[in-house]
Amino acid sequence: MRDIINLGVMAMKKLKTGIPGMDEILNGGIPERNIVLIAGGPGTGKSIFSQQFIYSGLEMNEGGVYVALEEHPVQIRKNMESFNWKVEKFESAGMFAIIDAFTGGIGSSAEREKYIVKDPDDIREMIDVLKRAIKETSAKRVVIDSVTTLYLTKPTIARKVVFQLKKVIAGLGCTALFVSQVSVADRGFGGPGVEHGVDGIIRLDLDEIEGELKRSLIVWKMRGTSHSMKRHPFKITDHGIIVEI
Ligand SMILES: Nc1ncnc2c1ncn2[C@@H]1O[C@H](COP(=O)(O)OP(=O)(O)OP(=O)(O)O)[C@@H](O)[C@H]1O
Ligand SMILES: [Mg+2]
Repeated sequence: MRDIINLGVMAMKKLKTGIPGMDEILNGGIPERNIVLIAGGPGTGKSIFSQQFIYSGLEMNEGGVYVALEEHPVQIRKNMESFNWKVEKFESAGMFAIIDAFTGGIGSSAEREKYIVKDPDDIREMIDVLKRAIKETSAKRVVIDSVTTLYLTKPTIARKVVFQLKKVIAGLGCTALFVSQVSVADRGFGGPGVEHGVDGIIRLDLDEIEGELKRSLIVWKMRGTSHSMKRHPFKITDHGIIVEI
């Protein structure tokens, strides 16, 4: 009985995002196995945020998997290198994998990419490739960029897709960021099925204030921890995202 009680109060393990300011806002980081929606409009920094999260993990010897549904894997590698996040050595070492769910395995991708999802609408294929990539890289961190792409034409299956992915990812001991695209005017996070299904929501915003675009973010929910309830301004620099505490 005592053991069970002790287990109950055992401090929950958190994963540091490695994004300056963010771990303070989250009181230490993202609770392990949480599935967190990174929601925001176009150009708000969702992909950069997610890539920084993956790279921080790699630097701490935690494997990572990035599911590319919106951009070419080559472009993702280039983008990460532009922030000096040197991922190719981690890919060669088998610690980092990009799943190409963008090209459909057409053209040079077929020879270059190790992980290809031919039909992103086929959730079974997606899950099979994802499981293989997580196991082979011993991944602790997963990014799906974007999860919106998986149910864009079929909003009724959004909840089911999110739950299926969540079950597999958390089941394998990983913590994940699901990028959620919302339109500029939309103050939501990606629809009720998704918003309630995930464990956390971080919303990124761009607002025009006196003729200038200002970036900010807010943690809307994060199961398993207390967190800042404030809106925090942030910057994107040549070294990635820096959040003001
Ligand atoms: N080196 C840099 N320094 C400052 N800002 C940058 C730098 N590189 C990119 N940005 C900013 O980041 C934005 C792109 O961020 P990101 O690709 O993460 O957006 P996103 O939220 O994923 O958008 P989308 O939904 O369109 O994919 C650019 O529009 C630009 O404003
Ligand atoms: Mg993006």
